[in-house]
Amino acid sequence: MQNHLNDGFVFRYKLVGSVEYIKSGKDQLFLSKMVKICCIGAGYVGGPTMAVIALKCPNIQVAVVDISTARINAWNSDTLPIYEPGLDEVVKKCRGKNLSFSTDVEKHVAESDMVFVSVNTPTKTQGLGAGKAADLTYWESAARMIADVAKSNKIVVEKSTVPVKTAEAIEKILTHNSKGINFSILSNPEFLAEGTAISDLLNPDRVLIGGRETPEGKKAIEALRDVYAHWVPVDRILCTNLWSAELSKLAANAFLAQRISSVNAMSALCEATGADVSQVAHAVGKDTRIGPKFLNASVGFGGSCFQKDILNLVYICECNGLPEVATYWKQVIKVNDYQKTRFVNRIVSSMFNTVSGKKIAVLGFAFKKDTGDTRETPAIDVCKGLIGDKAKLSIYDPQVNQDQIQRDLSMKKFDWDHPVHLQPMSPTSVKDVSVVWDAYTATKDAHGICILTEWDEFKNLDYQKIFNDMQKPAFVFDGRNVVDAEKLRKIGFIVYSIGKPLDDWLKDMPAVA
Ligand code: NAD
Ligand code: UGA
Repeated sequence: MQNHLNDGFVFRYKLVGSVEYIKSGKDQLFLSKMVKICCIGAGYVGGPTMAVIALKCPNIQVAVVDISTARINAWNSDTLPIYEPGLDEVVKKCRGKNLSFSTDVEKHVAESDMVFVSVNTPTKTQGLGAGKAADLTYWESAARMIADVAKSNKIVVEKSTVPVKTAEAIEKILTHNSKGINFSILSNPEFLAEGTAISDLLNPDRVLIGGRETPEGKKAIEALRDVYAHWVPVDRILCTNLWSAELSKLAANAFLAQRISSVNAMSALCEATGADVSQVAHAVGKDTRIGPKFLNASVGFGGSCFQKDILNLVYICECNGLPEVATYWKQVIKVNDYQKTRFVNRIVSSMFNTVSGKKIAVLGFAFKKDTGDTRETPAIDVCKGLIGDKAKLSIYDPQVNQDQIQRDLSMKKFDWDHPVHLQPMSPTSVKDVSVVWDAYTATKDAHGICILTEWDEFKNLDYQKIFNDMQKPAFVFDGRNVVDAEKLRKIGFIVYSIGKPLDDWLKDMPAVA
């Protein structure tokens, strides 16, 4: 098994460089040696990534392992633990052939040539760096376990998003306990977005592999490159040093989030001036140097990573004596928080400065469409803001259930990013929140509607029927710009759309964030 770093491999290293070669029969030379991959962490990244590797590399055995029995049971069932378009088909094709899910972490790690680590890297809640730095507890325990159980050489791949220089710490853990075994550490950050994970994995803009610039490091890079080269064109597989790969991941998320905060900052100015943020974004994005993607104004970005990774970046800048750089990136998060607060204030001020006792229908709770994930969703802050003003909420999301919503609304900041079975249980359910299973029940007798996720079905609801069943005046606050505001106005709604020219009603009741 440990032969994957031997002369046969060096031979490949010199020859590989074209997809043609990978597809030729000579490929067996390598694959017959590299037979098993294991991934620690069966989450949103580990599960889909490994399923696609199994699909594209039928000669490689892929085992996904996790400490959470519930998660592994779900991966082995008909109802997978995460909702992701296309994922069911890929898992069903490979499970029981070359893809398995197991809680027997140590056995599979010991048997594998290459071990991916895709565990949680939450924001620290206590101690040094609390509220900013990444908590590497789960990573460290995975690394110690690898060192303990390994009996042969291994390539250890950082898949989790980690602070720059984490590989150095991991290397120390592995080599101090190595018993003469060689470990090569690689950084292979994941760029998939939820909701499009399978298509992102099948057709990535790039795959990034960072490794040591030593002969062993280069061989390890090539071994991983060979796995991806089964389906990713070689010119899209970028190989760098370890620190560049680790930092590129944090930088990419920071740049993406910065675009959203930029357009959201513009949305506030649009509302104040009568400009339309969609028109501004379209005009700006037509410049090929800027490009059209990721310029949709919204109630704010959510998701498990943007905030966490920027906070982590801020902390790294501060630790490296770069306070100005830290402040620059911190502002991306401040604008995101401002956008959520601004949205809540707009609702409250439009409804005669109080929502106390009023029923507000919340359509959408997931952090974006086509996922059931609610981690750091802007809906949490918006709902908490409305509950703080004593509103009664009726929430509907096609993919998020009542338990999840109650947990999210009662959980402390950052607690969500720990393995589920280690999260604190919600003490009591949040009063004045009901969760329903369709938009018409949610909106019946409501005073206002907030749209917080851009699910396609919200575009085509029967808004006339909804209007008829609501209290008057009936309000729609569209945090995702999904509805046809003019059509709704004709029905009789008062409509607020992020960054769009304001109704006279709203102009008369300005919201101060
Ligand atoms: P997740 O919470 O869905 O999955 C992590 C899994 O790791 C959990 O199931 C947990 O039980 C398991 N785990 C933790 N410690 C373990 C241990 N010692 N042994 C075995 N299993 C263990 O998280 P995720 O969304 O998959 O994210 C994982 C990493 O990937 C994070 O660093 C994240 O920043 C990064 N990332 C996430 C995304 C995304 O879209 N979610 C995209 C790119 C990168
Ligand atoms: C993001 C990145 O897009 C991935 O490349 C990265 O791998 C991942 O984070 C990660 O590291 O976890 P994800 O969070 O799944 O992916 O989803 P995005 O599509 O980036 O959306 C993030 C948030 O921004 C969502 O709340 C979305 O609604 C919001 N958004 C996105 C906007 O408000 N406007 C936009 O124009 C785009």
